[in-house]
Amino acid sequence: MKTFFGMAIAILAVCGMTFAQQPAYEAKASAHDLMSKIVRPSNGEIGAMRKAGGPMSDEDWAASAATAAILAEVGQVLQMGDRPKDEAWTDGAQRLTAGATSLMAASKSKNAEAWTAAAGEMGQGCRTCHKVHRQQ
Ligand code: HEC
Repeated sequence: MKTFFGMAIAILAVCGMTFAQQPAYEAKASAHDLMSKIVRPSNGEIGAMRKAGGPMSDEDWAASAATAAILAEVGQVLQMGDRPKDEAWTDGAQRLTAGATSLMAASKSKNAEAWTAAAGEMGQGCRTCHKVHRQQ
């Protein structure tokens, strides 16, 4: 009986692994596509709030949380497939994700001080990668 349950659990574990398998990832968007269509407008939104002294209304905080989540996703996408080029790339993309994740958390808790710090942290991610990978 013990063995039977052991087997059943082992079989369930193998099935679970099969179901959990991710579909193969194939990069579609170039760095330029991601930057011009997602990162530039999203960062512009955060930048405009920054200039205005940070998010002011509940709508601002909610918009900031969603935009930060999108930027955190892009940071992850930049690390996927054959996109990573070198350490500066990976480091920059990780910092972007970390900074954007903090920005998202600060937006959800409406913490103005943490929000400003996270926006700065995210900007470091942009610069880390651009220093090496963005021409001009
Ligand atoms: C992991 C690397 C990486 C990170 C992180 C990164 N970028 Fe970029 N960025 C690039 C590369 C590569 C280009 C040049 C793409 C091209 O135009 O060919 C670029 C170009 C750009 C451009 C010009 C795009 C255009 O429309 O011509 C903008 C704007 C930009 N990045 C903004 C940002 C901002 C803001 C952040 C941070 C929130 C950021 N990037 C983070 C790699 C990165």
